[in-house]
Amino acid sequence: MRLAIIGATGMVGNVIREILLERMFPVTDLVLVASSKSQGNKINWNHKDYELVSIEKALNKKPDLAIFSAGSEVSKNFAQKFADQGCFVIDNSSFWRMNPNTPLIVPEINSDELTEKKLIIANPNCSTIQLVMALKPLHDLHPVSRVIVSTYQSVTGSGKIALDQLNRERIGDIEGSTAYPYQIDKNCIPHCDIFLENDYTKEEMKLTQETKKIMNDNEILVSATAVRVPVEGGHSESVNVEFRENCPPIDLVRKALSSFPGIKIQDFIETNTYPMPIYAQGKNDVFIGRIRKDNSHVKAINLWIVTDNLRKGAALNAIQIAEKLFEKKLILETAEN
Ligand SMILES: NC(=O)c1ccc[n+]([C@@H]2O[C@H](COP(=O)([O-])OP(=O)(O)OC[C@H]3O[C@@H](n4cnc5c(N)ncnc54)[C@H](OP(=O)(O)O)[C@@H]3O)[C@@H](O)[C@H]2O)c1
Repeated sequence: MRLAIIGATGMVGNVIREILLERMFPVTDLVLVASSKSQGNKINWNHKDYELVSIEKALNKKPDLAIFSAGSEVSKNFAQKFADQGCFVIDNSSFWRMNPNTPLIVPEINSDELTEKKLIIANPNCSTIQLVMALKPLHDLHPVSRVIVSTYQSVTGSGKIALDQLNRERIGDIEGSTAYPYQIDKNCIPHCDIFLENDYTKEEMKLTQETKKIMNDNEILVSATAVRVPVEGGHSESVNVEFRENCPPIDLVRKALSSFPGIKIQDFIETNTYPMPIYAQGKNDVFIGRIRKDNSHVKAINLWIVTDNLRKGAALNAIQIAEKLFEKKLILETAEN
């Protein structure tokens, strides 16, 4: 299988290469794409050197699958061109997510929406993925009516430039390009992505709109506040979930969450056990703790959810989608046609 990684040198691209090896993804030919400033450089993957090429060159190689992680502009300009050649595209940017013809997939939830007809597939926003992973088993237990979520998002969620900013600030160097309008070290910035007309940020509205689309339920109300914190990797979320009818007993909530694939419960207050980004970083699971009834509302519960934003929040989810395409024989069938 010929696989192209568009944005192979980025925060997400690096983790995609790592996970391909970990999961022994069946790659026969790998095409690595980066911006013009990196083209010509070589990257070693699985004991072989690969030259970084332009996206036009990757298109000419007619890959069977392309994973895009190079920002919305690149996805806007090139995803359809790859799909027009029969190539499946899994896109990490936000460009295609809310397109009504584009499936927005978290494999544990809605992989049944993958078909041979829809070659562009969107990977949801990192904060949305960990939220819906927790909501799906709860919604199946008792329908959810409203979610209030506050995020504590790490700097790797904003790409290489943001990690550089944090690392430089930590050694007192405030020169150079920045990802944020303020210092991020020793700070919390309640501003992720751009502000919109309704005074929410684009990141906050992604949580609202993408949740409805993935859960296939427009009635779920989501109000989000997204905050950038000086953590290197791993997004955390404080989540209040309100149910439509009755709130399920907490032992049933735990049971539903712990039996859902990809979720690990870390919730034992006697030993101070709860999820934290320093332990979630580098791991594949969605970690959930601080599970408790809301003391201010009979129909609501509270959760604390932590996930590695570069793994389940981006690269791992994308590769799990690719694995589903194989499992359903969609990639091979399309290639034969
Ligand atoms: N970081 C996360 O947690 C996360 C989670 C979900 C989704 N995403 C999405 O994934 C995408 C990548 O994010 P990231 O954090 O990996 O960003 P990043 O660290 O800034 O990396 C960007 C990558 O895109 C490449 N690139 C930039 N312009 C290009 C062009 N015109 N043609 C070809 N390649 C180009 C860069 O190459 P050079 O090295 O040559 O600059 C680099 O490989 C974004 O759309 C982001 O919204 C990120």
